[in-house]
Amino acid sequence: MKRNRTWKTVLGILLIAFIGIQFIRPHIPNPPATGRPDVPADVEAVLRKACYDCHSNEVHLAWFDQISPAIWLVANDIRDARKVLNFSAWDSLPKDQQNAKLFECLNQATFKEMPLPQYVMLHPSARLTNEDLAVLNRYLSTQFISARPDSHKVAVANAQYAAWQPSETGKNIPPAPNGIAFLPEYKNWEPISTTQRLDNGTMRIITGNDVAVKAIREGHTNPWPDGATFAKIAWDELVDSAGNITTGEFKQVEFMIKDSRKYAATKGWGWARWKGMQLKPYGKNELFTMECVNCHQPMKDNDFVFTTPLQLSNK
Ligand code: HEC
Ligand code: HEC
Repeated sequence: MKRNRTWKTVLGILLIAFIGIQFIRPHIPNPPATGRPDVPADVEAVLRKACYDCHSNEVHLAWFDQISPAIWLVANDIRDARKVLNFSAWDSLPKDQQNAKLFECLNQATFKEMPLPQYVMLHPSARLTNEDLAVLNRYLSTQFISARPDSHKVAVANAQYAAWQPSETGKNIPPAPNGIAFLPEYKNWEPISTTQRLDNGTMRIITGNDVAVKAIREGHTNPWPDGATFAKIAWDELVDSAGNITTGEFKQVEFMIKDSRKYAATKGWGWARWKGMQLKPYGKNELFTMECVNCHQPMKDNDFVFTTPLQLSNK
């Protein structure tokens, strides 16, 4: 009898506390949208269904999101999400960065980093289907076609090739801000893959050193062995009237050097990038590697490498 009464008291107190905390509610400001992405309706529909609840000022919360303490977590996510990407303030992004942002969105969505998995669990209607991803992909492809080169770009590319002696590079090239030295030998490494970046019209070749190629042949790619090194070289992509694709102006070359101990602080990889014909080291200070690591984060279960073994597994 007595025990029963104690339990009732405890439950009563909990119930009152639960009702009480309902009055402690975070404020989620929803100022009017100043500018949304200027994209076709099907693209907008995908973003609305999967992303707008966090990345916009047009938030539609489910009833169970609005109960404290759930609402506290939701409000936190929304605050953090808007900081990095807010579709309702799209016009605050410079034009050239808008497509780059959408490309990043496609990446995050393709590798199932976004929408946040715990959110999808509770909101199954926000799950992206393959068709949704195809919608995003198709749209970014058309953006790419409109970025096709003009004669100026072709002239720049030709002038550059005439002037640049690839065999001379490697001399007098300053190291990256994190101390990593330029690796001119990347040009002799084996090509592993080529990719296109749809939003900014570049093509890239990814090459790997001997250690990387041996690891691919032997299937030891996750994790990659120490010493494995990749280069990714990017050029403008030029398409002539017959549809042939060639490399245009050289943009940059970047490296990932595996050394699980030396580079433990940056996920086991040394990151470095040199830009333009002058091969200027990229980054104001060594914190530039955070940019690399963050964008490669969706591949954390693949040792942070995007390219392989997808493309070489059948070799
Ligand atoms: C439940 C809330 C939520 C939803 C829904 C959501 N996101 Fe996010 N997103 C976040 C949060 C929180 C962050 C900041 C995370 C961080 O970096 O810790 C974020 C970060 C991002 C970033 C920046 C990543 C980076 O690290 O630079 C991109 C891009 C992004 N989201 C795209 C999307 C896209 C595209 C969708 C829809 C397909 C989407 N998100 C849906 C919460 C959400
Ligand atoms: C905006 C996102 C993003 C950022 C930032 C980024 N990468 Fe990548 N990186 C990619 C993607 C996507 C690939 C896959 C190949 C492709 O699509 O070109 C890739 C591929 C690579 C590769 C080839 C190996 C692989 O993972 O496939 C190297 C090397 C590389 N990146 C180096 C760097 C370095 C160094 C930095 C920082 C200076 C950096 N990346 C920053 C997205 C990014």
